[in-house]
Amino acid sequence: MRPVEICKDVHWVGAVDWECRNFHGYMTAPTGTTYNAFLIKDEKTALFDSVKASFGGQMLCRVAHLVKPEDVDYLIVNHVEMDHSGALPELVAATKPEKIFVSPMGERAMKAHFDCADWPIEVVKTGSSISLGRHTLQFLETRMLHWPDNMATFIPEDGVLISSDAFGQNWATSERFVDEVDRAMLQKQLDRYYANIVLPFSPIAIKTIETIEAMKLDVRYIAPDHGLMFRTPEDVAFAIARYKELAAQKQKKKAVLVYDTMWHSTEAMAHALADGLMEHGLTVKLMNLHVFDHSDVMEEVWDAAAVLVGSPTHNNGMMPKVADMLTYMKGLKPKDKIGGAFGSYGWSGEAPKAIAEWLTGMGMELPVDPVRLLYVPTHEQLKACLEMGRTIGAAVAAKLG
Ligand code: FEO
Repeated sequence: MRPVEICKDVHWVGAVDWECRNFHGYMTAPTGTTYNAFLIKDEKTALFDSVKASFGGQMLCRVAHLVKPEDVDYLIVNHVEMDHSGALPELVAATKPEKIFVSPMGERAMKAHFDCADWPIEVVKTGSSISLGRHTLQFLETRMLHWPDNMATFIPEDGVLISSDAFGQNWATSERFVDEVDRAMLQKQLDRYYANIVLPFSPIAIKTIETIEAMKLDVRYIAPDHGLMFRTPEDVAFAIARYKELAAQKQKKKAVLVYDTMWHSTEAMAHALADGLMEHGLTVKLMNLHVFDHSDVMEEVWDAAAVLVGSPTHNNGMMPKVADMLTYMKGLKPKDKIGGAFGSYGWSGEAPKAIAEWLTGMGMELPVDPVRLLYVPTHEQLKACLEMGRTIGAAVAAKLG
């Protein structure tokens, strides 16, 4: 793939990772990803961000379509995480840059990642700007969106916001722009990325958007470091509006039932609970952890009003996949959920109570005590689960109206 022009003299020179399925060791990426990098040709030629180490050759090849690598003057490192810095040593060696611009926290991270004592690092902060000639680079630190070092760069002459991880999506495509792909799929990828990476930093996402709006930046392009770029006024407005909804965790009348099961008893409980929830008009998502992984679940949890978690009791505790899910979910800090805990057992039966403690530890309100049953549910016990579903459904309906 050749470089792709975003607007005059501003080009995409990143890489598409069609085979990525394990994103950073904690998130699944069923549709691959991209590592976006950008080049601006001007009196000073600037190269923004980098790619995963194994894609360094591809990136340099794309750069070479536009300029000789040694003619690159500046490198701008908006984020030091390895998917955007892995190829940096190769790029530094190939380009021998006059300067490498990085945020204060980025400098700290860079020194901890690389043997970079002789690199020409120059620290820039929010409010710093440099001129390339016809283009100005304005820097905006976006600390903890999602690492301390993250920074965005705005180019006011063209209205290009190089936004680092913000507005990213894990989606390998031959297209580079949002207006070239299916909108529903784009939104799914934007949501999945947000729910699994950015969610705990939602207050910072809101503050960053407010800062961009207060600065009255005329954003005409959003170029994130993953996925497709936004280049029409409608698409830029869509990205910002969707991020506001994601950051606000705007809830729907929706419940996610996530569970593991051994001999289908906890699964039968989940189905009875779902029936009770649906009686109050809730959309339900039944997610057996042998079918859905924790990234799939978070894609559904962020806008759900209720989260019900079930597990059989195994060796006096919950099943391993449920423990994994709860650990992952807690770290992502979903807010203002109504919770529920359930599960079958054979002799000791600790799992539902342990799940309830995790859910209350996440700030969830549990309108019904944890429900457990011995071995195989009776008709009467399933009716009790149905009733629990009704009670939680009624609580959601009362909350959301
Ligand atoms: Fe896409 Fe935080 O790296």
